[in-house]
Amino acid sequence: KQPINISIDGPAGAGKSTVARQVADALSFTYIDTGAMYRALTYEALKHHVDVHNEARVMSLLKDMEITLENEGMTSRVYVNEEDVTDAVRLNEVTNNVSFIAKHEKIRIEMVKKQQEMAESKRTVMDGRDIGTAVLPDAEVKVFLTASVEERARRRHQEHLDKGIPSDLSVLIEEIARRDKIDSEREFAPLKKAHDAVEVDSTSMSIEEVIQTILQLVRERT
Ligand code: C5P
Repeated sequence: KQPINISIDGPAGAGKSTVARQVADALSFTYIDTGAMYRALTYEALKHHVDVHNEARVMSLLKDMEITLENEGMTSRVYVNEEDVTDAVRLNEVTNNVSFIAKHEKIRIEMVKKQQEMAESKRTVMDGRDIGTAVLPDAEVKVFLTASVEERARRRHQEHLDKGIPSDLSVLIEEIARRDKIDSEREFAPLKKAHDAVEVDSTSMSIEEVIQTILQLVRERT
């Protein structure tokens, strides 16, 4: 396969990670979950009682930690230094604070640098909010994956129920909408469709249909 990078951006809960992981698997590319990096930093800030709004303090935390992403088949693990934080970064408290951490410009510059290094092999599928616009502006295939906020919350709700986690659909709708608003309205690299990205609205599509749509784009562009 020709070396290319694929970016998948979009709002929270649109199915980016599921789709990106499977597209990467189909192409034997590396999947890079950039949200997990912001989450790992958020987890670390909460753990050390660092105010998420204090950019300088969060920045010094970031300088002192090593974030590692590891793919094991269809699961990816996240490490902070030696600690496996894969499950911890999905906790509600992390989810509801991560967008504050992700607003800081210096933090973003540092994260983008790391992400660009990870994509140097040009065989990556990277998902996030600013991949097509800021991290990999030259990505050969760019996707902007959306779905209605109700549908995204409903999917998350079902995931919770399947895992036996208590869940309230109306709270999820509110939380997802709030996170989208912060991510879209922030000053630096807000969530935005790149001008050359293809928008895929997955509201009434299956995961398999979304994957096939992206693989078709890859075939057309390589
Ligand atoms: O993709 P995920 O929902 O795990 O991302 C968590 C949060 O990290 C997002 O809501 C956003 O605030 C931030 N993020 C970002 N830029 C990225 C990836 C994630 O700002 N490239």
